[in-house]
Amino acid sequence: LTTPDMKGLKVLVTAGGTREPLDPVRYLSNRSSGKMGYALARAAVRRGAQVTLVTAARGREAPAGVRVVCVETAQEMHRTVMELFPQQDVVAKAAAVADYRPREAAAEKIKKHQALLVLELERTPDILAALGRQKQPHQTVVGFAAETGDLEANARQKAAQKNVDLLVANDVTMPGAGFDSDTNIVKLVYPGGAVVPLPCLDKLSVAHQIWDAVLQLRRAGRE
Ligand code: C5P
Repeated sequence: LTTPDMKGLKVLVTAGGTREPLDPVRYLSNRSSGKMGYALARAAVRRGAQVTLVTAARGREAPAGVRVVCVETAQEMHRTVMELFPQQDVVAKAAAVADYRPREAAAEKIKKHQALLVLELERTPDILAALGRQKQPHQTVVGFAAETGDLEANARQKAAQKNVDLLVANDVTMPGAGFDSDTNIVKLVYPGGAVVPLPCLDKLSVAHQIWDAVLQLRRAGRE
């Protein structure tokens, strides 16, 4: 039996890879499966939290007792998350949000007339950075970083730049880690520079470790 040590906490989790339309039949996306975000939602609800899951993942059954909001694009996720943020105590941004989207989605299906097709992409809003800027003292923001090299250096830089309380970093090139895997190998990176490496664990166990770290941070913040 799990202790309800997150009772009374309002938790928002994002999951999945956003899809950015290119034309009526195509989109740009990434390899995110949503598994880590869903595991976080499941673990938090078991521990008694009031959980909202903002998800771009498809074909994945939401854990019972979780309020689910489905989104497609980075823009929609941004709007939804910013609207819900003021009511939350904790936000964990496990979603793989597209960094770029097609500048314009074509109204008609793009035809294969050209030998070389150039797409113009523009930046999407960085939701995590926006949360970091608006964060109130009672709110805890957890970011994620999928990296393919220089994991710790990139993660430390991100934790500081985005003003998060905790950054969960994973090297997605490691076997047993990252996208679509049932297990994950992460490092908990604190903005002060402390790094706690976790062993290879199933994603539900990783989720519980992340919530343990969040509760510890919140307890330390109250002292
Ligand atoms: O900078 P990078 O994209 O690697 O940071 C990853 C973290 O930032 C993740 O928590 C992801 O959900 C979040 N993110 C975001 N909005 C973006 C890009 C990333 O919230 N446009």
